[in-house]
Amino acid sequence: MISLVYPPPLCDGVVRVRPWRDTDLSCVEQASQDPRIPVGTTVPAHYTAEAGLAYIARQHTRLTSGEGLALAIADQCTDQAVGHINLMLRPQEGVAGIGYWIVPAARRQGIASRSISLITAWGLSAGNFARIEGWVEPDNYASQRALEANGFLQEGLLRSFLTIGTRRADVLVYSRITADAQR
Ligand SMILES: CC(C)(COP(=O)(O)OP(=O)(O)OC[C@H]1O[C@@H](n2cnc3c(N)ncnc32)[C@H](O)[C@@H]1OP(=O)(O)O)[C@@H](O)C(=O)NCCC(=O)NCCS
Repeated sequence: MISLVYPPPLCDGVVRVRPWRDTDLSCVEQASQDPRIPVGTTVPAHYTAEAGLAYIARQHTRLTSGEGLALAIADQCTDQAVGHINLMLRPQEGVAGIGYWIVPAARRQGIASRSISLITAWGLSAGNFARIEGWVEPDNYASQRALEANGFLQEGLLRSFLTIGTRRADVLVYSRITADAQR
């Protein structure tokens, strides 16, 4: 049985995954300027401080409404937020969908991969999830690599599965399950 609570801050010496704070506005502003992030998430496409604070408030509502956990990814030294990661409950008991983004200036430094590692390890142990799955568009090689580097297995292609902005998108399904984590 899943009881939704924020994990303790998850750290690996480089990144810290922790709840969003109102002082993380600069991260939301940078994400709003990325072509991909606002289309696939609720990051505002037109940033204002008010819209940024509403985004941060929505991440806490994910927990209180029982939708899942939505956390900031921060630099462990400075605690400056550079991204977002979530585990959202799927309709099937014990299954979570993982989602993440990193601001453009902090990409290609292993931050997504490290954060996926931290939250997946926690989710499949203390978090009590049996399966964590990722849905990734076929052209999103960085996201596929970040999942594969963390032992997620590709299970197949779901055709015309999601609406992203105004278009239909195919997605590759990846998963990691408790038994994988114990190997
Ligand atoms: C996908 C995303 C989260 C990756 O974040 P990141 O911190 O740059 O990823 P990492 O540095 O951990 O890199 C992970 C892997 O992807 C590779 N990679 C990163 N950027 C890449 C790129 N533009 N093209 C090809 N490979 C790339 C890295 O080399 C690494 O592979 P390796 O393990 O074989 O070395 C980031 O590009 C992003 O936020 N994109 C927009 C939002 C998005 O697509 N979210 C995911 C939706 S499913």
